[in-house]
Amino acid sequence: MSDKATLTYNNQSIDLPVITGTENESAIDIAALRSAANLVTIDPGYKNTGSCKSAITFLDGDLGILRYRGYAIEELAEKASFLEVAYLLIFGELPTADQLMKFEMDIKANSVVDEDVKKIIDAFPKAAHPMGVLASLTSALTAFNPSSVNVDSEEDMYKAIVKIMGKFPVLVAWTMRKSQGLPIDYGSKYLDYVENIIKMMFSHPNETFVVNKSVKSALNKLLILHADHEQNCSTSTVRIVGSSHAGLFASLSAGISALWGPLHGGANQAVLEMLEAIREDGGDTAKFMLKAKDKNDPFRLMGFGHRVYKNFDPRARIIKKAADEVLEELGVDDPVLDIAKSLEKEALSDAYFVDRKLYPNVDFYSGIIYRSLGIPVQMFTVMFALGRLPGWIAQWREMRQGKEPIGRPRQIYTGATIRSYVDISKR
Ligand code: CMC
Repeated sequence: MSDKATLTYNNQSIDLPVITGTENESAIDIAALRSAANLVTIDPGYKNTGSCKSAITFLDGDLGILRYRGYAIEELAEKASFLEVAYLLIFGELPTADQLMKFEMDIKANSVVDEDVKKIIDAFPKAAHPMGVLASLTSALTAFNPSSVNVDSEEDMYKAIVKIMGKFPVLVAWTMRKSQGLPIDYGSKYLDYVENIIKMMFSHPNETFVVNKSVKSALNKLLILHADHEQNCSTSTVRIVGSSHAGLFASLSAGISALWGPLHGGANQAVLEMLEAIREDGGDTAKFMLKAKDKNDPFRLMGFGHRVYKNFDPRARIIKKAADEVLEELGVDDPVLDIAKSLEKEALSDAYFVDRKLYPNVDFYSGIIYRSLGIPVQMFTVMFALGRLPGWIAQWREMRQGKEPIGRPRQIYTGATIRSYVDISKR
């Protein structure tokens, strides 16, 4: 295979290098294009544009493959703990037992949030969307931890990482408890990372807290499945904000805002609301299938379709199986699970969805599990953010340590050409 591509334009030929990754994906490196030919490329939505080289996550949308640092998502979801996966994503290798213990201890030592943060939480209306609250609180952490990270120091970087890994679940749990009018729970250092999240979210002030094993195993799996997904909208946001040398917490806060949208992480909330709407409407899935296919109707089948997966989303397969298991273990009978399964069945044999390669994505079944765990629907995207945290951190670290330049795309200007100012009395 050639390691260059030749572009001919205006009788001029320009050779552009072709780079190949470890999984044999190739890309034309156009860095020299503008200086050589005074041309830029244009690709709205970046459908064909690689923004960086990355050694963190590999996915093949045609084959439905997702791997973190070379490990198949199926194996990690089955065998690993979320903290192990976080370590793997951020530092590149699975931790030894000692490394994992140190990582966990250091995170625990950092899982106290300044009491003044509670004043900020109290200032939000109870009905505020938790994603807005979480983005604000994550940004506010910068004010409480003003020293910037020296990215050239591994030690400094590590300190910032364990700090955010420790404090983020606290913010998540406090955000949920605020919306429910429950007092804050400070967690316990005697619990592991996922158990502590469950305690901080679900403990009741007048009850002894006991971790339910099924809840823990389901949450562990969901967090792992959401932990990274290469250059998606929120991750690209984290990288581009960080590329201006904005701090880690500020970059993460921007990522949370990007994740909030219903075309991205916000889809998990939208899916459950859609399934509920179908149920309340009498459960006629065929009617909603028609709406989804009608180009004059803005309705989309939420939780379907993906920019990269054009065969199946491996995360959706695992989550669908887990939904069946968890609901059975917890003795929950959720009628929307049947509605979801009917929708999937109909879509998979419908020419509109088949032709466009639209399959259930990670968000289609995840909400059903979250709901069975007792998580309110407005918190679903927050749970996605909790899982995605290590991915965002890993990508930010890779970008900063790789000394990537500031992200600053070009454009093709299509507005008015030069014209003279007209006095207001003459307009
Ligand atoms: N329902 C109905 N039609 C759809 C859907 C859907 N969910 N998704 C895509 N299409 C149609 C779309 O109308 C277009 O049709 P046509 O070619 O006739 O114009 C075609 O499929 C291609 O869609 P697109 O919007 O150009 O594809 P995209 O790669 O830009 O968008 C997507 C991908 C995920 C934003 C989109 O499929 C979608 O809006 N899905 C619903 C929202 C959702 O579930 N998002 C979660 C994504 S996975 C988790 C995450 O990233 O956070």
